[in-house]
Order: sequence, then C-alpha cells, then structure tokens
Amino acid sequence: MSQISTVRPYSVAPDIDVLSMYFPIPGFGQLPVNAFVLKGREPLLVDTGAPLDGEGADATEGFMAALRQVIDPADLRWIWLTHADMDHVGSVHQILEEAPQARVITTFLTVGRMSVFRPLPMDRVYLLNPGQSLDIGGRTVTSVKPPSFDAADTAGLYDSKSRTFFSSDCFGALLQGPAETAGDISAADLREGQLLWATLDAPWLHKVDDKAFAASLNEVRKMEPERILSSHLPPAYRMTEQLVGTLATAPTATPFVGPDQAALQQMMAQLTGDAARAAVTA
Ligand SMILES: [Fe+2]
Ligand SMILES: [Fe+2]
Repeated sequence: MSQISTVRPYSVAPDIDVLSMYFPIPGFGQLPVNAFVLKGREPLLVDTGAPLDGEGADATEGFMAALRQVIDPADLRWIWLTHADMDHVGSVHQILEEAPQARVITTFLTVGRMSVFRPLPMDRVYLLNPGQSLDIGGRTVTSVKPPSFDAADTAGLYDSKSRTFFSSDCFGALLQGPAETAGDISAADLREGQLLWATLDAPWLHKVDDKAFAASLNEVRKMEPERILSSHLPPAYRMTEQLVGTLATAPTATPFVGPDQAALQQMMAQLTGDAARAAVTA
C-alpha cells in the first residue's frame, strides 16, 4: 500500500508556492493535501498542512522543512486557516512559535473548534468573515464562502493582486497519482475524481436547492480567477469553467457509500495475504 508522501514545495506563480503532499485512501486513490505561501510585503501562509507526513514520527517536521525551502518562517506576517480540520491546521502552533510577527486570519468558529484541542493565542487572531476584506501589504484579500465544504467554519479567500481563489476543500479530487497541475490530469479522470471527492466530502450537496447552489457557483465564475488553488487538487490554471461545471453535477451524482465491514475484512485479508492463501487452498 502506498505511503503518505513527503511534502514537496514548488512554484505555481511568481509570488505563490504550493506545499504539496499526497495522502493515500485505500481503494479510492490519493488525496492531495496542499498549503500555499503567498509572497509579498506581508507574506501569507494559507493553511498549515496535515499533522502526519512522509517524514514519519516527528509529525510536523516534513511540512516545516518544505516551508523553510520557500520562505524563512520568521518572515511570515499572516497565517490563513480556512477551517479547523486536521489536514489544514497540522503545523499551526509550530509556525506561530517560529513566526513571532504572524497573526492568524480566520473565523470565530475556527477559533472555537481549535479551542477544543489546542487553543490559538487570542491576541494573535484576526477575525474575518466571508464577504469581508483585509489589506495586507498592498494586496486585498477577501474571505469567500466556497460553494462546497465539509465544515461549517470554512472560509476560502480571493487575492485580487494575483487573481487567485484559494478554495479550501472545494474543487478537490481523489486522484490515481500525483500531478503537477490539474491540467495534466485527463478530463475524464479529473471529473471522476472531483465527483468522488465532492460526494464523500460534502454529502449535503444531494440536498441543496438548485438555484441557491447555482448562485454560489456563479460567484466563483464572477471572480474570473486566473487560478484556483484548492487544498485537495493540484494547482488549476484557467480551469474555472471545467471545475465549476463538474461541481454543478455533484448534487445529482451517485451518493458516496463507504466500505462496510465485509469490504474491510476483504481489504485486510488482501493486505495480509490471507486472500491469496485462501484462493490456493480453495
Ligand atoms: Fe475539511
Ligand atoms: Fe481538507
């Protein structure tokens, strides 16, 4: 079975880097888990990785090493937490230690969810609600509620300077393997992976009001983003219509049903070789 990958940093725009890792989901493929560094006068880190990565036991070390390759953490001024799920907040406390100037932009609900396991220092929090904007070093970042999400506190952001929509869990896809950009994935594979992710991550999409969902998808179109940077998709350049078009069909796609106990036992048997032995002796 494939392992959690190491965190790989690479450039997606002159002022944006991605910190990318892949998390295997047995039987379903690999899920990209991304954080992003937006460079400028006041550098911003969007999310802080998963608490486990390919470096093993010292959970945050792989993420921190990748981060240090693209920026001195001490130079960070802002950390945007899109929501408090573990794959987004893994290294936040480590980074707060190494980035004494940095403040966390997030929502009241994310602060509340973080307080259940390890609270954020409140004097370093900046609360920004969807629809509100903040000027950071000559660029305006606006908090945006994405059309789909798996947690109530989710807020993505739009950066006017780079015309980038950081969409958090929205527009994610389960993939067969790593890809440098979303454009490198065949349209069929991307569509299938996107629908699988959308239906497992946001099963409430099957209950949405058509008009309300179409309106929220149109909000993304109106941004006319140059690129969409999802937490769970390789960087997507000028692919808004393709990504939005696929997500528009998620409410009527086949609902996701996870493996049951019989399927789990079958998977475990395959992993231990019991299935092979049983086949030989049958
Ligand atoms: Fe999430
Ligand atoms: Fe996520």
